[in-house]
Amino acid sequence: MPGILILNGPNLNLLGTRQPEVYGRTTLADVEDMCRAHAGSIGMTVEFAQSNHEGALIDAIHATRGRLDGLILNAGAYTHSSIALMDAISSAEIPTIELHLSNVHAREEFRHKSYIARVAVGVICGFGARGYTLAMDAMKSHLESRG
Ligand code: DQA
Repeated sequence: MPGILILNGPNLNLLGTRQPEVYGRTTLADVEDMCRAHAGSIGMTVEFAQSNHEGALIDAIHATRGRLDGLILNAGAYTHSSIALMDAISSAEIPTIELHLSNVHAREEFRHKSYIARVAVGVICGFGARGYTLAMDAMKSHLESRG
């Protein structure tokens, strides 16, 4: 059974209360419950981690190497600035889907640039909390297509 990590970056611990008009009212704990249930129904195992610290996110990405099959990453604002996170994904050689709750392309110009997208299989954004389960489905089909 494929195993994945769903990794959330800075400020996503405040999901549900942080700018709900942009990010919705679903909490990170709700997201994790949804994903856990979805993992059971599509035959995947799922782990979760969240950190507000770039180095801790890098450590979490490194720890997937050779151990897990996929990474779903909402790197928050580090998406738009972190070459180090991009390099961590390349170093871990882990198939990665970049995820955002909001449609970053409909927002400020500085959110249009992503370092993660350069090393990602694909990007899902704009579907709110539902994006996490969409990303799990996308990861499952990506892993199956690779055989
Ligand atoms: C976000 C979008 C980022 O631009 C922002 O900095 C976030 C959340 C999203 O999920 O929509 O923290 O990644």
